[in-house]
This record gives sequence, C-alpha cells and structure tokens, in this order.
Amino acid sequence: MQFKKIGALIVFITILYNCDSQNTVKQKPQILPMPSHIESSNGEFILDNSVGISSDDSFKVSSNFLKEFIEKGNTLKLKQNNSINFIKDESILNDEGYQLTISPKQIEIRAKTDQGAFYAVQSLRQLLPAEFENGSFSKKNISIPCITIVDSPQFKYRGMNLDVGRHFFSVDFIKKYIDALAMLKMNTFHWHLTEDQGWRIEIKKYPKLQEIAAFRDQTLVGSYNADPQQFDGKRYGGFYTQEEIKDVVAYAQTRHVTIIPEIEMPGHAQAAIAAYPELGCTGEQVKVAETWGVFEDIFCSKDETFEFLENVLDEVLELFPSEYIHIGGDEAPKKHWENCPNCQQRIKDEGLKDEHELQNYFITRIEKYLNSKGRQIIGWDEILEGGLAPNATVMSWRGTQGAVEAAKQHHNVIMTPTSHCYFDYKQSDNEDEPLANSGGFLPLEKVYSFNPIPEELTEEESKYVLGAQGNIWTEYIPNAKQLEYMAFPRILAMSEVLWSPSENKNYPDFVSRVENFHQRLEALNINYANHLYEVEGEQGPNGYELKTILKNKTIRYTTDGTEPNITSKVYSEAISIDKDLIIKAAIFNTDKKLGTTFIQPIIYHKALGKNITFNVQPSKSYSGSGIEGLINGISGSDTRVDDKEWLGFDGEDLEITIDLGEEMDINSIETRFYQAPWMWIYTPKTIEFRVDKNNTYSKIELPESDDRHLNVTLEINQTTRYIYLKIPNSGLIPEGKQGAGHKPWTFIDEFIVK
Ligand code: ACM
Ligand code: ZN
Repeated sequence: MQFKKIGALIVFITILYNCDSQNTVKQKPQILPMPSHIESSNGEFILDNSVGISSDDSFKVSSNFLKEFIEKGNTLKLKQNNSINFIKDESILNDEGYQLTISPKQIEIRAKTDQGAFYAVQSLRQLLPAEFENGSFSKKNISIPCITIVDSPQFKYRGMNLDVGRHFFSVDFIKKYIDALAMLKMNTFHWHLTEDQGWRIEIKKYPKLQEIAAFRDQTLVGSYNADPQQFDGKRYGGFYTQEEIKDVVAYAQTRHVTIIPEIEMPGHAQAAIAAYPELGCTGEQVKVAETWGVFEDIFCSKDETFEFLENVLDEVLELFPSEYIHIGGDEAPKKHWENCPNCQQRIKDEGLKDEHELQNYFITRIEKYLNSKGRQIIGWDEILEGGLAPNATVMSWRGTQGAVEAAKQHHNVIMTPTSHCYFDYKQSDNEDEPLANSGGFLPLEKVYSFNPIPEELTEEESKYVLGAQGNIWTEYIPNAKQLEYMAFPRILAMSEVLWSPSENKNYPDFVSRVENFHQRLEALNINYANHLYEVEGEQGPNGYELKTILKNKTIRYTTDGTEPNITSKVYSEAISIDKDLIIKAAIFNTDKKLGTTFIQPIIYHKALGKNITFNVQPSKSYSGSGIEGLINGISGSDTRVDDKEWLGFDGEDLEITIDLGEEMDINSIETRFYQAPWMWIYTPKTIEFRVDKNNTYSKIELPESDDRHLNVTLEINQTTRYIYLKIPNSGLIPEGKQGAGHKPWTFIDEFIVK
C-alpha cells in the first residue's frame, strides 16, 4: 500500500516536470566543442523509420557516418528520401564550416565540403541520446528539438599526439582514439612511431627494425626517480605492419582525420641504433632502451645514415598521404657528434660553426628530401637551434618561445607547450591518481584556459599559428584504460580551445557540458577521469571558503577530522578559524557522496592574516596565491611546488618583514624549504632573523640533506610586533648537477608564528 502511493507520486511529478520543460526556455544543446552560433526554435523533428537521407556523392563520408550511427544496432532504419538533406553550399566560407538546421519537417546540413558536413553530423550526433553511441537505443522514435547551428573552427590544426614507443597500443585502440578525435571535430592524429624504447612501424627494407628495434628486454616500473630503479624483467614490444597502417590510415580518412607520422631524428633513435649500430657515431652495440629520458646514442650525420633515413621515409610516404611528416628533432644530445670523426668532418666540409649547426644541416637535408617528394616537415622547437630549415613548421613544446621565434621568421607553428598541452602530467592532487610524469601538473581548467596565440605575436604574425595539440607521452601509461583516463576529459577542453570562438569560452558552462558528456563516454566505453565532483577551498576575508565548479551541488563538511557524511553540516558561509582545524568536505547528492573528500588542515597561528612584505617579488610562474599565502594557515603540497601555497624565488637573496600589527609574545617561527636539484631548487644554507627590540640579526646555519623538504624552527622567545628575516640564496649550483653554475631557486612554505 505504502509502495503504491509513492509510485503514484513519482508519476505525477514526472508529468508536471515534462509540462514544465515544454513551456520554459529550452536548455542550450550540450554540444562539445561549443558551436559558434546556436539558435533554438519551437518544435521538434521526429526521427523514426519514415526518415531517410538524401545526399550527393560529394558527401559520402559524412552521410555514411550518419546512416551508420543511426542504424548501428538501433531500432531505427533510414530510407532513401530527403528528410535529412545534405546540401553542397559554396557560400559557406570555411571549408570545415557547416550549417545545421533542424525544423519539424527536415534536417538540413549545408557545407562546402564533406568535412564540413561531417562536423555537422558530429553536432547532430550529440543532439541524440547517448544510447545511439553503443547501439542500445530501443525506442521507435526520438524527437530532436528544432535548432539552427552556424559553425566553423577557430584553428585549422586541431590535434592529438600519441606516443606508441614507450608503450604500444593496438590497432583497435588507435581506431577508437581516432573516433574520439573525430567526434570532437579534431582533424589531426600525430602518431609518434619511433622512440628509444621501441620502433613501431614496419620498414620492409630493414627487417631488424622489426626483429630487434621493436622489442626491449624489460621496462622500468614505478617512478624513474626511485632509488634503486625497478624493472619488470619482461620482454615488451610490438609494431604495426604496413597492412595495419594502411588500414588505420584508410579508417582515419572515413573520419576526416589526417595522420601525421613521426619518425624521430637525430635523437630518440636508440632502438634503431640497437638494430643497426652502424647508424650511430660509435658503432657500438646498444640495447633498446628500458628506462625513460634522453639518450646520447643519436643518428650519426654520415651519408650512410641519410641513406637509411631516406629509405625509411620512402616507405613511410607510401603509407601516409599527409602533407606533413614529423621528423622529431627534439632532445638530441650532441656528445657523440663532438667526438665522432665523421660528424666533425661533416662540420668542416659544410663550413658549419658547431654541432647545433650540424643539427640544422641534418634537418635541412631531410627537409630537402621530403620537399622533393612534395611533402613538408614538422619538427619540435629544437629545430630552431642552429638555424631553421627553410620550409619547416615548428611544434613549440618547451613553452611558447619557439613559436614566437618561428612565427616572427614567418614559419608556421603548432602550439603544444608543456604548460597546457601535456596530458601525461597529473590532472589532480588526489592520492589515488595513477603515477604520472612528474614534470608538471595540468588540471582540466588549465587546459581550458589555454590561448594558442602567444601574446608576443602581432595579429599578422599570429596567422602563422596553425593550431595546437594535446600530447600523450606514455612512459607511465602502460595500457589503454589509463591512456583514456589521461586523455579524458582534458581532450574535451582542448577541442573547445581549438574549435570554439574564445569570446564564447565559459568554464562553468563547459564543465556542465562535460558532466552531461559522461553518459556518452560511458556508452563509448571510454574510461574518463572525473574531478568535477570535488571541493576546492581558499582563505577568504571572513574565513575559509569552500566551492565547487558545478552549480547546484551540496557541500557537507566537518572540522573535527571526521569523514563528512550525509548528515554533516551543509556549507553555506566561510568557516571562521579560531584554532587549528582539519576541514574535510565533499559533494553530496540526496543519498550519497560524489567524488573524493577534500582535506585541508588549517594551522592557527599568530601571523595568520597579518602583514608580510618581501624585498623582491616571487617568480610569476611560482607566485602561489601571493605572498600573503605564506601566513594564511595553509601549508604547501608535499609533492609539488606549483600549487597555491609555495612561493618560488629565482636566485634572489630574500629579506622579509612580518608585521603582527601589535606587540605579541612570540616563541618560535617554523617554515620549510623545498629541495629538488633536478629542477634547480635548493634549500638555503643560512637564515637570519631579528625582532624590533634587538638590532642585530641572529644567523642560523641550516643542515644539508637529500630530503625533499627542510623543516626549520627559529626559537624567538621575545615580545615583538615585527619579525625580520633574511634568507640568502644558497649559492651557485655545483659542478656535475643540473644547472651547474646557475643560481638555484628557493621555495618557501608557510611561516608559522607561535
Ligand atoms: C618532447 O616532449 N620531447 C617533444
Ligand atoms: Zn657521427
């Protein structure tokens, strides 16, 4: 009886809701990437078995895709009539642009090219329920709200790279990746096919590339920085046969995705040299690499190597019709070239200044060869060193400087700076994140904030920026599931950066579309990361503030260290701080916790919210939440310095004043410094302090250790309003270390005044 009553209530509410939704403003269509213009109108188009497609031959790919998408495993079958009309429209300016009009009688797709129509289809696809993605739609019809979309991309080059050298991914997975790119209106797949750890493309003329270079004896497991490093002892590898590559290239053409193959030279060539040691400078046998990094065994600049590379490229060109061939060019240590008679002879014969100019000779010679075959080269930004090959396109990864230089020299550039485009970096600080490249931190919002046009460029120069791409290097990505986790949802942000007008950018709106997109990803069996249901916090004027990126979510929290649950206090205003607290918070729906628990210990101390000044400003890149962040009661991350709490200073001697506002009894000051010699970060050797009653500084010698953090406690035991500190830079980085001879960075955490 009780049960029946509840049932009736639910039906009643549902009817009310439906009526309501028809009479109020319709929700904006949830398309990713967001189209340039959308206009909703009244009415709906009913897609059922009476509907058909009419299209001329020039729209084969797009119309076939739509037919298959609607019919695949679904109950709906299309006929041959014109209720979905593909129309060639030369007045549409952008080759990739389209106009999609859904009216009660028909769906009209207008485009100048099949590719433009294909993108109309991708938008239409996202107006259909997620069940269409996996063929589980089982109703007789579906209504699509009437709408007009006028759309075209902001950038011509919209790509994703994938490194299959460090880990190998199956042909089926590569197709799934290409499918995802196409769904997001990305048009380029940059297939990084050769690496120190494995050569992945069959080259018939050189069978040892398959027998030897495609396999390594074992693989590093866990962190590269572990001491000692651990290896799995298992042979690992694989390669794509030429038949498989032809199949993938043909498949990509049915998705309007161009594949740009990358054959790395002169560096990242250790696997090839393991197969053919004569391609290196020393002729010595090396192994296919089993660990990560930059290796000294690079291709020698003798004629025999060029003969090999030209033969390899001949086969590559047969397989890949793309205008561009990526030739690498990055991370090529010149040590062997410096000691190689062949390379030194080459420098002399060609009148080159040094090994950098020899790299330019190398790249230019390959460029000439490819240009003679009607192709263009792309290289990583190192190809700028020693002079740029005449027609090269530069892929700017070490920041944006390479792009700026290249564009100013009127070369095309593709943006892929580590800061915004390296999807092998962690996307969250959560403890359960998979091990990842420790080089950086790249959350979704940062990808979304990316502007591919460097601000140093004039409008004219910015025309050389073709677009951008996300990169996925796979040192720490052993399988497809984890790769998807790293790619999604950051690839969604990248697609919008590249396709949608920047003036339409709106992060909260984007994340609400990402949330809605989850069901589509699930239907596609794509393993996405979900950090949308997470709480963020910061010190505000009235206490500690909690927020979430998605609207209409309930935050519950505790301050006593217990795990928040469905009965915990609902957050409504800033949490005032009058003692040490551990704030734990999470998002809840009506019956359960969503996402992970946010944990923030707050240290209550005497300088909290007081005044602090420095003689210099922190580096722009490491300015945390400003210098006040050093007395906000919050410690920095234990594992990374690019958070909101650490401050980084680039080589300066620091003088700091803390003004407590009034005289207080001070017992001690605690702080900590970060140490990461590979990032040029060193702890100071001394620290000096004085208080206002006492004019001489007390100097403390600080111990040296290999630990990541140096904790320091200064015993004060005086009454004072001011505390003055001096922290001299620890002095030049010693020989044998990274950055030797440069001044190191100093990173400082919270000053806890007790
Ligand atoms: C690169 O990340 N070495 C291009
Ligand atoms: Zn050499």
